[in-house]
Amino acid sequence: MALSTAFTDLLGVPHPIVLAPMGGSAGGALAAAVSRGGGLGLVGAGTGDPGWLDRELTIVASNTDQPWGVGFLTWGVTLDAVERALAYRPRAVLFSFGDPSPFLAPVRRSGATVIVQVTTIDEARLAVGIGADVIVAQGTEAGGHGARHGRSTLPFVPAVVDLAGPVPVLAAGGIADGRGVAAALALGAAGALIGTRFQATVESLVDPRAAQAIVDGRGEDTVRNGVLDIVRGSAWPSRYTSRTLGHPHLDRWRGREDELPGNTEARQSYEDDKAAGVIPALPIWAGEAVDLVTDRPSAAELVARIAHDAESVLHRLVQPR
Ligand SMILES: Cc1cc2nc3c(=O)[nH]c(=O)nc-3n(C[C@H](O)[C@H](O)[C@H](O)COP(=O)(O)O)c2cc1C
Repeated sequence: MALSTAFTDLLGVPHPIVLAPMGGSAGGALAAAVSRGGGLGLVGAGTGDPGWLDRELTIVASNTDQPWGVGFLTWGVTLDAVERALAYRPRAVLFSFGDPSPFLAPVRRSGATVIVQVTTIDEARLAVGIGADVIVAQGTEAGGHGARHGRSTLPFVPAVVDLAGPVPVLAAGGIADGRGVAAALALGAAGALIGTRFQATVESLVDPRAAQAIVDGRGEDTVRNGVLDIVRGSAWPSRYTSRTLGHPHLDRWRGREDELPGNTEARQSYEDDKAAGVIPALPIWAGEAVDLVTDRPSAAELVARIAHDAESVLHRLVQPR
């Protein structure tokens, strides 16, 4: 039994499994491996650094002949960066966190599928209104960035499905295995977009120590916070926070985040600790599904495993007892 959905039909991929466009983690090699495995690999292009785009999109385009795509952070990307990416002929372009309207015309002209990741009902309404081809409903269990006042995946996904009508919806946030993909389909989604799980793969760009921390981590070790964005001087708008594993500077500022903006000492102390090697160069972004991450396989093998397990779960559920 293959899991054919409105999403797999639209994109022409065998499995309803999408690699989240994780900035810094999902490079061309990981995206290509996911696509070769039968999912849709999305390169995490963040705000669209030209050097990163040229390097990673060359890698993905030359390592798979299957559909692949690229994802941008709407609040920081430029039209130039989107057009630069389109020159590599992605099959899909994903925009997260904000209004992607200013970037849609060239994507539409290229024929690529427009995917919009949303974190609230208002964002979902906007995505429907601008004619997104696919909507990703991200719950607050997700690793990495999301809404400061986000929604849980279980109730949020069906609410977006109801709102989206015929537009296929992907579930995101807390999905790391076949059971999660089966649950997403049961909620009415046409597939799942998965981030944290794919960081612990052979092709991921994350530091191997971070990948090991994800394998070792538990969901309750993760915290959604704005602290680490502020102390590291990140440009993320404050309406978005990120879910990370624990961190010394998080402990230091727990419950006192409002004292941080403009606090140059806090920022300097973070930089000093980084320079001294006391803290890693970047926070470890990870979602509540880290409990389910127990190994570091190749990404293609992982896609096949998740697809197979999702099919088995669904098959078992419809068997007479
Ligand atoms: C390390 C990491 C980096 C991420 N970077 C981005 C990003 O640059 N752009 C984006 O749209 N989403 C990003 N996300 C969020 C994902 O798109 C997705 O919503 C999330 O990973 C799904 O939840 P999960 O981690 O539980 O699978 C990131 C997530 C992680 C874990």
